[in-house]
Amino acid sequence: MVSLMLNGVNNVALSPKGLGFKRSDMHGRNLNLNVNVNLSFPQMRKSYEFRSKTLVVPKCSVVVPRPASQPRFIQHKKEAFWFYRFLSIVYDHVINPGHWTEDMRDEALEPADLDDRDAVVVDVGGGTGFTTLGIVKNVDAKNVTILDQSPHQLAKAKEKEGLKECRIIEGDAEDLPFETDYADRYVSAGSIEYWPDPQRGIKEAYRVLKKGGKACLIGPVYPTFWLSRFFADVWMLFPTEEEYIDWFEKAGFKDVQIKRIGPKWYRGVRRHGLIMGCSVTGVKTDSGDSPLQLGPKVEDVEKPVNPFLFLVRFLLGATAGIYYVLVPVYMWLKDQIVPKGQPI
Ligand SMILES: C[S@@+](CC[C@H](N)C(=O)[O-])C[C@H]1O[C@@H](n2cnc3c(N)ncnc32)[C@H](O)[C@@H]1O
Repeated sequence: MVSLMLNGVNNVALSPKGLGFKRSDMHGRNLNLNVNVNLSFPQMRKSYEFRSKTLVVPKCSVVVPRPASQPRFIQHKKEAFWFYRFLSIVYDHVINPGHWTEDMRDEALEPADLDDRDAVVVDVGGGTGFTTLGIVKNVDAKNVTILDQSPHQLAKAKEKEGLKECRIIEGDAEDLPFETDYADRYVSAGSIEYWPDPQRGIKEAYRVLKKGGKACLIGPVYPTFWLSRFFADVWMLFPTEEEYIDWFEKAGFKDVQIKRIGPKWYRGVRRHGLIMGCSVTGVKTDSGDSPLQLGPKVEDVEKPVNPFLFLVRFLLGATAGIYYVLVPVYMWLKDQIVPKGQPI
């Protein structure tokens, strides 16, 4: 069954939309979490069929991650730029299938309520356009802008027939080239892990949305298994679910929700963390900029960096990333070996 690795979970409410957690976090607020894992397993699907039952889940030990404000080796703009200079070559065919599948993408986009073909949508950190292809199923491509800091990733998006009508631009997620109150939907999938200042990126998401607009940010979740934690912390940002909610609320979003996602063959296992582990949504209920005030940007790409430090950071970070190429293969093998219906 689903193993709940959240700290201090008190109640779990099951609803037809997913598994909703009603819990107080360490600050005494209530968090809403929709869990959507393992729907392919008959015995689990059965457990989703009843409405609003409350389960008591034992409290788990507290895992304290490194603060997001102490960036990991690839959680920098220049490092991410060079990382994708190489990764873009194999991104769609070798990297994505282990972490980010079409069915996961559709599950993750579902809370974004992309139900209006005329909606103005921005896909931030849109890369090769894999997530955008999910967006344009429901929204006219001419209303969709793909923004990314990597021209190499965007070059792949430009080749895709379904994205021919999208606007494709280079830019920084922490400093978006859109006016305030511009878009109906903000989507960002798998990009936050490279942002040196994630709170600033989420504040930007708030700013560019119109009143009533919705942000949908899809990203990694922090591992609880020690070895996975080690490699995650060397490589890039794997936020906790609490951090996502905190950033959204501080930016001014209301009705903040988390839906858990993961590859089917993981059978709901989250201890290694997930590169695409949750879809966080929030609604902007007022027009104008975010109420949150931040100082100057922590990292400026124009500023020269020490080439030696850059190389060391890049090589260490990229090497740690190899661990996360192996994890989905390991989980896939376990899924093949362990009899169906049993936890892995
Ligand atoms: C894992 S890929 C995700 C691509 C795409 N969203 C998808 O779903 O396949 C992460 C993308 O974020 C981009 N990125 C990283 N930092 C960024 C930043 N500060 N501003 C804009 N894009 C950024 C990278 O260039 C890369 O294309």
